[in-house]
Parts: sequence; C-alpha cells; structure tokens
Amino acid sequence: MSTPTRIAVLASGGGSNLQAIIDHFATENPSAEVVWVGSNRGNCGALARAKAASIPTAVIEPADGAALLGKLKDHNVDLLVLAGYLRLVPREVTAAFRGRIINIHPALLPAFGGAGMYGTKVHEAVIASGATVTGVTVHFVDEEYDRGAVIGQWPVPVLPGDTAATVAARVLHIEHILYPLCIELLARGQISLAPGGSGVVRKGPSAATAALTSLSPAEAAFSLAALSPSAAASQLRQAITQLLLP
Ligand code: GRF
Repeated sequence: MSTPTRIAVLASGGGSNLQAIIDHFATENPSAEVVWVGSNRGNCGALARAKAASIPTAVIEPADGAALLGKLKDHNVDLLVLAGYLRLVPREVTAAFRGRIINIHPALLPAFGGAGMYGTKVHEAVIASGATVTGVTVHFVDEEYDRGAVIGQWPVPVLPGDTAATVAARVLHIEHILYPLCIELLARGQISLAPGGSGVVRKGPSAATAALTSLSPAEAAFSLAALSPSAAASQLRQAITQLLLP
C-alpha cells in the first residue's frame, strides 16, 4: 500500500463531517489520514473532535493565506478538505493547491449555492422554493464560493411537512457517507481536476464513478423518495463502496 494521502481539514462548526472522515480512514492501511485541522473559531466542535483524535490543530486568521500555506507545508499536506468552513480560502492557497482543495455543500449545486448560502440558510431556501429534491455536492474549490468542478452529488428528497432542521438532518446523514468516499476516490487517484479546471477526470473502473455521476438527480430522487433516510444511506454506501473495491 502506498503512503496515505495527507489531509488537512478546515472547519468552522460542529465538525460532524470531520468526524466521519476520521472514522472512515481509521482502518489498517488507510488510503488517507487527517494530519492537521484548522479553524477560524477557537471554540468550535471540530477542533475539539480533532484534539480528541490526537490530531494537531490551529486557530487560523482566514485572510492570511501565507500563514495557512505555511501550516499546510509544515504538515506536508497533499489534500485540503473544507468541512463546514465558512470563509473564502485565500487566492494564494487556491493557486498553490489547485485540484487539491475540495468542499462539501448541503444542496445540489449549482442550485442553492454561492455567497451567503451556508448552514441552515441553504435548507430554508430549499423549503421556500418548494423543491422536492435537494442533496449533497462534493466539488473542487476555486476562487469563488461553491463554483468549482463537481466530484460527486447525491440527491435527498424533501418530504411534505419538512422543516429546515429535518432536511438538514437528512442531508447531513448523506454528507457523512459521500464525503469520505469522494476523498477515498481522490486519494486513490481515481478522480482529478481536469486541466484548466473545466471538469473532472475519472480513471479506474468505469463503474467506479458511475454511482457518482450516471444517476441524474431526478432519477435518483424518485428511487430514494420512498426510502427511509437510513435505507437511502445504505443504498448510497453500497453503490459507492462497490466501486472502491480493487
Ligand atoms: C455541513 O452541512 C456542510 O455541508 C456545510 O456545513 C455543514 C457542516 O457540518 N458546508 P459539520 O460541521 O461537519 O457538522
């Protein structure tokens, strides 16, 4: 097994995605490992989770790209993962880590994304729009909020009587499955950013990316709408882990 991909995570909130990533790679011979966690908020749950897992942490000044780059260099970071990080990544960092920074967004981008669309605001906007499908997007990060090439998406139904909180919980459940699996595909070199950032290059078995790309959100939503969130999650896990088997 080759050396694990060294991941840095930036987070501003509770850190449940960070936890899902830590847990996913807590195996023998993992393809990736979290080596450093940074936050713009000193008292957030994400830093507490990192400390509990004995991962080095730091509170960062979000606009200070040179300092952040220094940290990434100090820890020999290969991949920068944004997990509920609410600030824009400075340009010198996006430039130095082109194709090596990813983010998760709790909706089906390009819908319900962009500046100001974060946290519960996303789910409130989904409900207000009357949409019956929302979802999760994992994407490469560039200089704009929520704009980079999409790595993987998965739909989540919006059900009658839903509130922003119930949608958020259903979406978060899928985030915890989709994000580690996308990171695993990146760590295994099965996904990379196309030259010029125009899209994503997918290698490996063709099935390897089918679960992430071939199902249109509408199709998948129909198939998932009748399922409980946990059944939907297990369907997703099964579809994607099949791909990850050698
Ligand atoms: C998630 O919904 C993520 O998609 C968004 O912020 C939230 C972070 O949650 N970007 P957590 O801190 O990982 O629990």
